[in-house]
Amino acid sequence: MSFTLKVNGHPHTVAIAGDTPLLWVLRDVIGMTGTKFGCGIAQCGACTVHLDGDPVRSCVLPVSAVGGRQVTTIEAIDQTPTGKRIQDAWLAVDVVQCGYCQSGQIMSASALLARNPAPTDDDIDAAMSGNICRCATYVRIRAAIKQAASGKIEVTRPSP
Ligand code: FES
Ligand code: FES
Repeated sequence: MSFTLKVNGHPHTVAIAGDTPLLWVLRDVIGMTGTKFGCGIAQCGACTVHLDGDPVRSCVLPVSAVGGRQVTTIEAIDQTPTGKRIQDAWLAVDVVQCGYCQSGQIMSASALLARNPAPTDDDIDAAMSGNICRCATYVRIRAAIKQAASGKIEVTRPSP
């Protein structure tokens, strides 16, 4: 079947089976590899993208279920005001270790901040609990979300 997806503001028409997960369409057909495969069963959050601004697990979302909704991926999250602030804070706090989980973390954090400009610790826990980081960068993720929410981005990473 043929599907026309709106990805990061651009239409992409793909000919593929309707039960193909969106993740593989993004990565293997469209060539956007920023969104990662972790578990494939909606348990780790590495594959998180936005559908009309809501975070979804693209590894379990059939491409036929996307419809006309806007797909946003890590490649374009800096084009949204909250996504840009989150990415700036991520750099300032030096959140990333190996990096594998981080596109998913940034997508979930950006969606949180877009709907809740001043998240509490509980709000952050609830929004981020489905994003697993094997490098355990959780403390820095929380700090970066708080910096992005405050609007005061300052470098807090340790000196080399
Ligand atoms: S790869 Fe989708 S949640 Fe883990
Ligand atoms: S930074 Fe390595 S898994 Fe999260």
